[in-house]
Amino acid sequence: MKDFIFHNPTKIVFGKGKISTLGEEVSKTSKKVLLVYGRGSIKRNGVYDQVVDSLKSYNVEFVELPDVKPNPVLSKVHEGINLARKEQVDGIIAIGGGSTIDSSKTIAAGFYYDGDIWDAFRGKYKAEESLPIYVVLTISATGSEMNGGAVITNEETKQKYSFWSVKSYPRVSVLDPTVQFSLPPIQTANGAADAISHVLELYFDGTQNVQILDELSEGIVRTVMDSTNILMKNPTDYDARANLVWSATLALNGINGTGRSGGDWSSHAIEHSLSALYDIAHGSGLAIVMPAWMKYVHREDVKKFARFANRVFGIDESDREKAATMGIERLKDWYKSIGLPVSLSDVNISAEDIDKIVENAAARAPFGKLKKLQRSDVKEILKFCL
Ligand code: NZQ
Ligand code: ZN
Repeated sequence: MKDFIFHNPTKIVFGKGKISTLGEEVSKTSKKVLLVYGRGSIKRNGVYDQVVDSLKSYNVEFVELPDVKPNPVLSKVHEGINLARKEQVDGIIAIGGGSTIDSSKTIAAGFYYDGDIWDAFRGKYKAEESLPIYVVLTISATGSEMNGGAVITNEETKQKYSFWSVKSYPRVSVLDPTVQFSLPPIQTANGAADAISHVLELYFDGTQNVQILDELSEGIVRTVMDSTNILMKNPTDYDARANLVWSATLALNGINGTGRSGGDWSSHAIEHSLSALYDIAHGSGLAIVMPAWMKYVHREDVKKFARFANRVFGIDESDREKAATMGIERLKDWYKSIGLPVSLSDVNISAEDIDKIVENAAARAPFGKLKKLQRSDVKEILKFCL
């Protein structure tokens, strides 16, 4: 196990009805906030009303930035920064999933920066100042509710990049599993695939002798699968929802990355190009890319891939190569069983598109930890995705 420092400042308030506590939490730092949200789900399922009621009871004023789209874009962030400055807010509340949370984190950092906040994404600005950020989570997937990362697409350059700052952790995140009862099955599935991929990016980074973290990782993957299987039949099963919600947060709140080598993150790098170029949902893109990456690199650590097959799917691992291959196929089959695409053709992307995707993804190559990927490797992985 490697040395590490673990510090996560986000306070989690978990449970049914807990949105009512938001006003009190926000009033500790802020008098007037910017509410950031998506394209209407929170108005339909009652979450918006719960937030407004709670803020009003603590006399917190608010202005609104609606219409954040999935795969959020830089122009919307600029709009939010301008609004936040004009209205002189002193806090931000993200109501939604990764897209609204990441937009909120970027607005909160951009509020204090004189240049273009895109600089934080291209490594030219360390976002060391931020407005306080609060979250009401409505879809479990990214872990953004309890980490300091944000991912935004620059729609002009077609770059989907991320930044991370210790100042971008939300102060408080409210996780009420019941507000996710309204999710369409495909969104629950996207979230599950994203959470699993976060675990696997860390699990398969080549670090040895981290039993506690491996057990934790395997437990999260099994729990995500079991809960999702239940939710595909009954989206309002509270315990399944609650287990999925907390699993997805634990997958990328830093705890799972302790003692390791930072994670591999190649599948994310490649998927972000799919999202940037074709606007496909992040979880769907990962269901296509991750098994292909696993297939391509598994010989770098076949023992670990065999262990994964055994611990998650109960496959006999005495023949490691065979077990590793079977484990990857079983993961792919499971994605298929919950309605996710597992090949580029499933999302109408053909072999002729591969060079364009390679071009976009390989702009940042080489990347990856278990195997350092060059442009040619990225191309081979994408061929496995066909
Ligand atoms: O816009 P609305 O109407 O709210 O609909 C949303 C959206 O269409 C819908 N939705 C959310 N909660 C709902 C609901 N529909 C019904 N009932 C509810 N309770 O779900 C759709 C997807 O929302 P989005 O926020 O895009 O989902 P997700 O949480 O998967 O976020 C994905 C984004 O986060 C980035 C991804 O790349 C992608 O841009 N990521 C962020 C990370 C981070 N900050 O740490 C790490 C991840 O690896 C990831 O890259
Ligand atoms: Zn992800």
